[in-house]
Amino acid sequence: MTDQTLIILGASGDLTARLLLPGLGALLKAGHVPGLSLIGAAVDEGWDDERWRQRVRESAGVDPGGRWIRADVTRAEDLRTVIAAAAGPPAVFFALPPAVTARACTALLDVDLPEGTRLVLEKPFGTSSGSASDLNRLLARLVPESRVHRVDHFLGKSTVLNILGLRFANRIFEPLLNNTHVAAVDIVFDEALGLENRAGYYDHAGALADMIQSHLLQILGLLAMEAPISLEAGEFRDRKADVLRATRLWTPDPAECSRRARYTAGSSFISYADEPGVDPSRQTETLAELVLAVDTWRWSGVPFRLRSGKAIGSSRKEAVITFRKPPRVPDGLTGCDQPDRLRIGFGPDTLALDFNINGPGDPFELDPVSLQAEFGAGELPPYGEVLRGVFDDDPTLSIRADVAEQCWRIVEPVTSAWRAGKVPLLEYAAGSRGPADSLLAG
Ligand code: BG6
Repeated sequence: MTDQTLIILGASGDLTARLLLPGLGALLKAGHVPGLSLIGAAVDEGWDDERWRQRVRESAGVDPGGRWIRADVTRAEDLRTVIAAAAGPPAVFFALPPAVTARACTALLDVDLPEGTRLVLEKPFGTSSGSASDLNRLLARLVPESRVHRVDHFLGKSTVLNILGLRFANRIFEPLLNNTHVAAVDIVFDEALGLENRAGYYDHAGALADMIQSHLLQILGLLAMEAPISLEAGEFRDRKADVLRATRLWTPDPAECSRRARYTAGSSFISYADEPGVDPSRQTETLAELVLAVDTWRWSGVPFRLRSGKAIGSSRKEAVITFRKPPRVPDGLTGCDQPDRLRIGFGPDTLALDFNINGPGDPFELDPVSLQAEFGAGELPPYGEVLRGVFDDDPTLSIRADVAEQCWRIVEPVTSAWRAGKVPLLEYAAGSRGPADSLLAG
């Protein structure tokens, strides 16, 4: 096996410490990538090998050694020095804001990249379908598409990946997952967390780009895709691309099928607008909702409702498939008329099937029951799983160029309408359940 080097550009930042290094640590502890060399690079003063290694020890919980190179990652000359320090073809991780990533990629055009170099990019990938397409064209001049890893760490979450097993490795649910039997699909990621000092990034992204355009559309892709022949990258990504290409707003009017809202003071949070670093006039939403249609034979007519919010009183992270009512309930069976639901929880990791039976008590009276399973954590945390794909040269879990553009295309009518003020920015108190005017029933 060739030596592997991971180069992290923007290595002094929050993403590196909070997500990337812990994921890498888990991967190394599990015995993957033996002999990895790790190079941290950033423009910041005051970093050296020792400080970098200490950061790695603290965040990754392992000490693979490594070196620090001070570099302005938007300058070809500096990037040449960093790349030359790698043993073997490097994986270059851009732990940088999107605009800086684009400039670093432009600078790489003037650097000879070793054969086998992989480029790993964080979301948001561009800021629109146009800028994503520009970035894709740039990347295509640097390395082959199979060596571009556009990271979406939700695809590394074991319960998200479990959607494939649930749907395609048993006979029970899949025959029901279509417009004959399903009334609606909700994909919800409501977090108790607030801004967490991320104004510099979040105030430019907002909930729609931060969560829906990226993570939740990937979950939709897995829930709605046709069965791939295999999990080989080409097959799997083709099937996911098919459904995302068929996905559009539920109606042409974004005011009907989108909501945006921002939290005000409440619980232990100050108002989002008063957070340090936030420019309230940007009108950044901390909660977004969209209703989408997946225009395929299987899903035509079934609304997919996506929602994500910050500072919500009780966190709720799940996909819920709500089934249509049974065609007819025999006369004489009375009571509960809750619809049947399949719920896939993304933290805690659970699976639940809610349905009605004439169980305890009066045998002619229906009662709701729930069959539940809880899962332990996956072998690797999501970033570890994603990095494994990078080191194995397996792009299965990475977002393909066309899909990155499609995901912007899906949300663009909404972002334009929001920018033009055609959809009001609602408010909700931090710690509440979100705005009263929600598109999600119940
Ligand atoms: C990140 C978003 O990509 O995903 C965050 O930027 C969000 O705002 C996070 O909190 C949620 O993912 P996880 O894995 O922490 O639940």
